[in-house]
Amino acid sequence: MSQNPSTQAVHAGEEQRKPSGALTTPIYQTSTYTFADTADVLAFMERKAERTAARADGGDLTLRDEYGRYSNPTLAAVEGKLAALEGGDRAVLFASGMNAITSTLLTLLSSGDHVIFFREAYRRTREFAEKFLQRWGVTTTLVSMDDQDAIADAIRPNTRALFVETPTNPHLRVADLERLAETARQHHVYTLVDSTFATPLNLRPLTLGIDLVVHSATKYLGGHNDLLAGVVVGSHALMNAIEATRGLLGGVGGPNDAYLLLRGLKTLALRVQRQNENALRVAQFLESHPAIARVYYPALPSHPDHAIAQRLMTGCGGVVSFEVAGGKEAASRFVDRLELPAIGPTLGGVESIVQQQALFISLDPAERAAAGISDSLVRYAVGIEDADDLIADLAQALK
Ligand SMILES: Cc1ncc(COP(=O)(O)O)c(C=O)c1O
Repeated sequence: MSQNPSTQAVHAGEEQRKPSGALTTPIYQTSTYTFADTADVLAFMERKAERTAARADGGDLTLRDEYGRYSNPTLAAVEGKLAALEGGDRAVLFASGMNAITSTLLTLLSSGDHVIFFREAYRRTREFAEKFLQRWGVTTTLVSMDDQDAIADAIRPNTRALFVETPTNPHLRVADLERLAETARQHHVYTLVDSTFATPLNLRPLTLGIDLVVHSATKYLGGHNDLLAGVVVGSHALMNAIEATRGLLGGVGGPNDAYLLLRGLKTLALRVQRQNENALRVAQFLESHPAIARVYYPALPSHPDHAIAQRLMTGCGGVVSFEVAGGKEAASRFVDRLELPAIGPTLGGVESIVQQQALFISLDPAERAAAGISDSLVRYAVGIEDADDLIADLAQALK
């Protein structure tokens, strides 16, 4: 029976009857799985060989493993839930979002390959490609989100992958995934989408023809600022290869973080719905305020990607960015006067978090200008507090 996301967030991936009749999935705190006797070992090794053969053909044959670097039942429950939410065959969980991204790129790319990124992608992802992968002979082209049509021109005979992040940080640019997927498919290029800011509640890239979705599960998926995790979702064939990379490089997370993620995911639909509503209210309030020079939020008609967001997304997420009139010092004063949000670099949790982008990105003005970050830009990641309280706090800080 097909289920809606709120139901999947609560039930998918978990066994209906759990050990000892427990209602919640246990934390399997183990590094190793043992065998009854030698016959059990031999039977396991035979089944493992069958699975390896089935997976080489792109099929799935899920079996227990013998060692925690390859799998863990608590992690498997999270993976099942996230595969259902994104509409993919399988998900593989990693110890962080960066671990998921780097392991996926290392799986897809070889020496001599070329990869395309948007300039607005998370800077550590670009840094990995431009500085790290370059040492192994992978070349990178950066394209601006203003020029999504330029992707076709950037594709070369050796282009293997197109990496897209949407909505982007901090200007919330939204990619036209349908068009990008179509262009990439014509040239046999893999498409990867970092959908961290969107969540599977607001955007489902796989249904638009994208090959792989990645998330920093540290953000909305976990939702409580108490864990680090990453996930990749896609077809059996690609996920089998990515899972093998995890087993080799060892980027698997622990069962305690997996349990926190499983627990956080149960309320994902409720949290995202509230964060969508709060962010829209905050964005509308800020846009009408004389002390704010400009607001970036895709649900506002003033945003350059409003039409794409309306077409592809069911909500625009919990991050609102804006320029405070009066420059750098005015923005700092405003941030310091806010009483509800904490000052910090993350987003997606139940608590509102604010940051003056210029201070976190780089203290070097040239580097900030290159990243398109103005001195007065503030990123406000709303939590699940009451919108009236958030707005009252913004109003007093802008007085
Ligand atoms: C869009 C995006 N992708 C990936 C990452 C990396 O995730 P993690 O911090 O879980 O490694 C981040 C972290 O800020 C992010 O904002």
